[in-house]
Amino acid sequence: MPYYTKLGKLPSKRHIQFRRPDGQLYAEEVFGTEGFVGPTSTLYHINPPTQVIGWEPLYSTKVEYVERETMRMRHVKSMPMPPKGDPVTGRTVLFGNSDVEISVCVPADPMKYHFKNAMADECFFIHFGSGTVYTMFGALKFGPKDYIVIPKGTIYQFVFDAPKDGEPEPRFLLMESVNGSHILPPPRYMSKKTAQFLEHAPYCERDLRLPEMPMTFDKKGRFEVRIKSRDLVHSYQYSYHPLDIVGWDGCYYPYCFNIDDFSPIVGKHHMPPPTHQTFEAHNFVICSFCPRPLDFHPQAIVVPYNHSNLDSDEVLYYVEGNYKARKGIEVGSLSLHPQGIPHGPHPGTPEATIGATHTNELAVMCDTFAPLYPTKAALAFDDLNYPRSWEHGWEPAAEAGATNGAANGHAKRETKVSTRKSAARGASRVVETKGATQAKAGKSKAASKPGAMRGKTANTWN
Ligand SMILES: [Fe+2]
Repeated sequence: MPYYTKLGKLPSKRHIQFRRPDGQLYAEEVFGTEGFVGPTSTLYHINPPTQVIGWEPLYSTKVEYVERETMRMRHVKSMPMPPKGDPVTGRTVLFGNSDVEISVCVPADPMKYHFKNAMADECFFIHFGSGTVYTMFGALKFGPKDYIVIPKGTIYQFVFDAPKDGEPEPRFLLMESVNGSHILPPPRYMSKKTAQFLEHAPYCERDLRLPEMPMTFDKKGRFEVRIKSRDLVHSYQYSYHPLDIVGWDGCYYPYCFNIDDFSPIVGKHHMPPPTHQTFEAHNFVICSFCPRPLDFHPQAIVVPYNHSNLDSDEVLYYVEGNYKARKGIEVGSLSLHPQGIPHGPHPGTPEATIGATHTNELAVMCDTFAPLYPTKAALAFDDLNYPRSWEHGWEPAAEAGATNGAANGHAKRETKVSTRKSAARGASRVVETKGATQAKAGKSKAASKPGAMRGKTANTWN
């Protein structure tokens, strides 16, 4: 989406005759945004994309939020979420508002249809798993730690590879711009004159992986495209394969970007979250916290200052790193720090991390400019002790077994989850290789043992 490209066969000019081998005209489609003055692509179909042979409403996707009046820190452990559904029906919205919906998906089944989100751009973060997403613009091969940005209106189908022995089950985080805006690189990274990434941007064109062949499936039959629109998924039926495009060009298309290709910007003193910004849409931003050297002033405090982000709610999804520095956090955790109260490092962390030279953290952050609300599904995996984890002397182990309670704003409930053995195995492996290695090296008590991380690593999650 950020710059002009093309794939496949194209006529020499727009809107002229362009014929199939059998002499019939290809069907041109202008795929335009913002009333045809925003990013646009022009596509050439074998079949007219307007030929529908049937449709019916299928199911509602309207999200019901709970505890809308309650402001508190939240921590949702998503790793115990059991696999369910396919890469569309298996999505579980955990937080959201009228601008963005944030969901986690652990798909159990393959997609047997194609899907179009006609309400929102979608920004996936593939935590585990690899495969190919076949889109009307071509195929995108993806793997762990890839962002995949799929703009509104794109028809696609996810195909995950079967996990190899010992590999975690596929799992992704998804941020949907339900306010209808487009998820794009921040404008300040781009040249105003050419839409080229500027020198100070933490990534550039070479880091983006664009659609490739195969793109064209010339098949007749009965094909279902499920279209999400107006908070309802509709089933639309076509008599030809929906990925029937022979060529396209323009600035509107899906792409991949691996978070390891984000080049973090470091400073003499602590750099604020916008330094890590990767994408933005109307009323929310997406940031990447990546492994990097830490601040190099001789007296630097390398963890964030306490801060009130007065206009934002902050959600962090924890991918890899040393989780000991943020109490109770695990791989796959989501924390929500709401506007209205400040947040910052846990007690002892600023002192304990003095002299740390680098961080191995990896996290995806979504900051919203309007309050986020949890869903009932989020509450089922809610760590009610998290708001208390800043109390001096508080340790997660001391509170083990604590359950959701009325004192914390919602009623007690039974939480029953199951986890696929292989998924649990995979999660343990990541913790083992990324976090526990440090624990074994004697650094696990860093937060309560000043100087333990000196010259080593520190966690700087904001
Ligand atoms: Fe923050």
